This record gives sequence, C-alpha cells and structure tokens, in this order.
Amino acid sequence: MRYDTKIMPLRTPGAINEAAKLILSGELVAIPTETVYGLAANAFDENAVRKIFEVKGRPADNPLIVHTYGIDGVSEIAEEIPETAKKLFENFSPGPLTIVLKKNPKIPQITSGGLGTVGVRIPDIADIRELIKICGVPIAAPSANLSGLPSPTSARHVFNDLQGKIPLILDGDECKIGLESTVISLQNEDIKILRPGNITKENLSEFGKVIVDEGVTGELSGIPASPGMKYKHYAPKADITLIEGELPFFIYYFNKNADEDTFALMFDDDECAIKNRINFGKTSKDQAANLFKTLRELDERSIKKVFARCPKKTDEGLAVYNRLIRAAAFKLHSF
Ligand code: TXA
Ligand code: MG
Repeated sequence: MRYDTKIMPLRTPGAINEAAKLILSGELVAIPTETVYGLAANAFDENAVRKIFEVKGRPADNPLIVHTYGIDGVSEIAEEIPETAKKLFENFSPGPLTIVLKKNPKIPQITSGGLGTVGVRIPDIADIRELIKICGVPIAAPSANLSGLPSPTSARHVFNDLQGKIPLILDGDECKIGLESTVISLQNEDIKILRPGNITKENLSEFGKVIVDEGVTGELSGIPASPGMKYKHYAPKADITLIEGELPFFIYYFNKNADEDTFALMFDDDECAIKNRINFGKTSKDQAANLFKTLRELDERSIKKVFARCPKKTDEGLAVYNRLIRAAAFKLHSF
C-alpha cells in the first residue's frame, strides 16, 4: 500500500487525536521522542507490528522497544517489575532508559522478536505520553529509519526514509538527545548495559553494580545479549575509518592517507589546517546530538571516504563511540 505521507507539527490541534485514530486502526505513525524519531504501532496488534518490520526492512529476530505513558503502564508490558527496575524508572523516567523485563503474555511474540523478554521505555515528550494514554495500548516503536541507516533525528529524516510507506509523521522538531535510549537488563542486583546512551554507566552505578556488555565496544562473536547489536547499523554510504589518538596523530594520518575527496570528521575545537572538514560537536553531548544528522549529511553530499576522530569512551561519549564504530564497520586505526 502507498500513502500520501503527511507531516503534521505535533502541536497542531487535533494532531494527537489523528495519530491515535491511525494507530488504533492498525496503521503506523512516526513520532518524535527525546532520543530519536520512532515508528509507532499498537504493541498488542500483530498485524500492525508486522508492518513495522516490513516498512523498515528489519530482521524479524530484532525485538522492538515498547513505550508507555508512565510507571503505571509498565505492568501491561512486563510480567514482573523487580525492585531495581522500579527504582530506575522512578529516577530516570520519563527519559532515555529502556529496561529489558520478563514479557507480559499480552505482548505478542512478533513484538519481542520471539524473546520472552521485552524492552520497556517511558519517553520524555509529554504530548507523546498523552498520545499513548489516549490510545489506551502500549506503543511498539523502533527508530523510524530504514534498517541499517542512521536513526532519524528530524521529521525530514523520517520523510526521506519512509515517504509513501506510512500515512503520518508527527513533527516535534529536532530530537534533543540525538542517540537512542540506553538499553539495560537486570541480573539479580546487577545492571547490564546492552546499548549505551544518554543515561550513562556513571549515572546508573548509584543503583547497583553496572556491567557493560562486551558487544558495546567490540565486534560480537556468538549470541548477542541484545539482538540489535549484531546488525551493521547507523551506516552511511561513506567509507569511514576511526582514528584513535591525539590530534597530531590524526592530522599526520589524514595527510598521509587522504586523497582529495577524503573528508575529516572532527571535533569543533580541533585546531588544524585540514580543508575537507566536517565538525560534529565539541562535548560528548553535542556529538551525540549531531552524530546521526552528520552521518546523513555525508550521504547527501555524496562523500565517499571519511577519517573520523575517535570519541572518548566515558560518560555519554561511550554511546557516541558505540554508534560511530558501527558506522565505520569497526574499522579503527589506533596510535
Ligand atoms: O531511544 C530509543 O530507544 C528509540 C526511541 C524510538 O524510543 N527506539 C529505538 O528502538 O532505538 P530500536 O528498535 O531501533 O532499538 C531497540 C534496541 C535493539 O538493539 C534491540 O535489539 C534492543 O533494543 N532490544 C529490544 N528489546 C530487547 C530485549 N527484549 N532484549 C534485548 N535487547 C532488546
Ligand atoms: Mg534502530
């Protein structure tokens, strides 16, 4: 089915009601969140959820995150809410934290990618929580990009990927955070980070021992704890190599190996004379907010080859590194 895809500002009177009507009739609607745009469907509706996988070209074994309006809504998604999960939701929600919990049988297998667990998140945009409340059902929503492309951080990104494939995009301007939520699972008292994000290891460590899954920084072998991590992700068409080391080494490497079409992806405060240069932020927060937009820009400008500065791996920098190393298909040169 082809749609005449409509983009509606979130604040347009009636926009939320129209979105709710579509979702309850089994259609997909792209929605803004504080992290990235999501492709929303009724999480209880198998046929609607199937459309998500079709429209994105997403592998069926990659589970979806299910969103709710508040802590009271978690129990219709998860069968049990351990004490640690309760504390974490109370502290970090609404916000960019997804907790993997035992699935409520009401959530169909297709939504959880065949797993007995489900990722639960309460997004930090009041109008979107209102939308979920009006729908009266939890909302399954992966990032609203075509599978394998960088996640969308604006309504225009969503339109570029999904034009004609969905009826409605709610436009909530640029996403504040710009990288997807932190995904964690709980093991007894311990907290395991499956995907790093704006809620950092440092933030979580107040609530228990925090383990970072080995798939976060490295290339995976074996069965990943989070199926999404095994897929090539966030990748623009450009061939990216990460260069790890101080600025002088980067400049040395660039000058030695770049041809005239090669671009340098750099931090705003890097002082150097490289002309083919794109900046993606100074602090980790800025870099997080700009990364996906910048990766899409590389394709829009038909840039073919990129050497990128390696983000720091502490705090929110770990999330930036995790996405950029995948965009680089794990090509890393360290000094
Ligand atoms: O910020 C976000 O999380 C955005 C917005 C729209 O909420 N959503 C998002 O969804 O990034 P998606 O589907 O693009 O990424 C979900 C990630 C995948 O890596 C998936 O494997 C993991 O979460 N995940 C979901 N459910 C899981 C589960 N039950 N066990 C382990 N990993 C799970
Ligand atoms: Mg995604």
